[in-house]
Amino acid sequence: MALVALRQLLDHAAEHAYGVPAFNINNLEQIQAILQAADETSSPVILQASAGARKYAGEPFLRRMVEAAVESYPHIPVCLHQDHGASPAVCQSSIRSGFTSVMMDGSLREDMKTPAPYEYNVEVTRRVADMAHAVGVSVEGELGCLGSLETGVAGEEDGVGAQGKLTHEQLLTDPAQAADFVGATGVDALAVAIGTSHGAYKFSREPTGDVLAMDRIAEIHARIPHTHLVMHGSSSVPQEWLEVIRAHGGEIRQTYGVPVEAIQQGIRHGVRKINIDTDIRLAMTGAMRRAMAKDPAEFDPRKFFKEAMLAARALCKERFEQFGCAGHAARIRPEPLEKLARRYAA
Ligand code: 13P
Repeated sequence: MALVALRQLLDHAAEHAYGVPAFNINNLEQIQAILQAADETSSPVILQASAGARKYAGEPFLRRMVEAAVESYPHIPVCLHQDHGASPAVCQSSIRSGFTSVMMDGSLREDMKTPAPYEYNVEVTRRVADMAHAVGVSVEGELGCLGSLETGVAGEEDGVGAQGKLTHEQLLTDPAQAADFVGATGVDALAVAIGTSHGAYKFSREPTGDVLAMDRIAEIHARIPHTHLVMHGSSSVPQEWLEVIRAHGGEIRQTYGVPVEAIQQGIRHGVRKINIDTDIRLAMTGAMRRAMAKDPAEFDPRKFFKEAMLAARALCKERFEQFGCAGHAARIRPEPLEKLARRYAA
């Protein structure tokens, strides 16, 4: 099966009222674990690569590992998405490399640290949408800055994160501005700021409405019901994995993630793409620490990677099921990008 455009996956998800997890990928083990889970649950999936991932694995390796995944699981619709593109040039290089979807994150300047003015965001995102849509590739934009409503701080994760203290106005996407942004840019999907942030340290307590603004999602969806919404920073930070990590020498402070029930509530209000990176990292780290502690004489890293893959696979399987994505793979036939390009042009 060829790679699928994000737009096609999310249109299908909207039509059937489910959400698609977008898992971050960096290496072979993560890609295999995610695809095994997609295969087991018969789910379409979004594999997303950040600038950090490309730096870690190298772009040709990432691309070819994804090609191998598509070849190995021909019945699973896979979208290859670029996470947090810092500039139109970065998006262009991903499109050239074969990504079927790109995120232009114009909520921050190109340094991925400085919050950008609205006009800048509109300008760069519109440019990327024009360029991507001409070849049928989908575009995600972001309005509002990701970061904690508790502290006003975004925190840096994988090279992305607003610096300094942010106001609530910056940390919460404005519904009226969202409608204006979508009209001005033509994005296929919109990432919204509602108090989530990347990484393990999202909330100092189980989140309530004052720090995780799910109501805001409902308001935005009511204003732009035909735009697919994206939740970034949506790892649930499983307490079980924190325990395993701590029990085997790791140091992770007490912290909480986004409850799965909150994501399910989001899915009822137009959330179609749910970004998850940290949960896979935690599960893999926990599983490797446990395996190493259990058998200190073992020196074949494959033994540890195997445990890590099993842990990641179980986590992904759970998310496919929890987001209602399971069972939909067979119902999606990838449309050629040229056909989508013609539709954008019409
Ligand atoms: P988490 O750190 O919560 O997994 O979020 C990942 C993400 O949003 C990538 O864009």
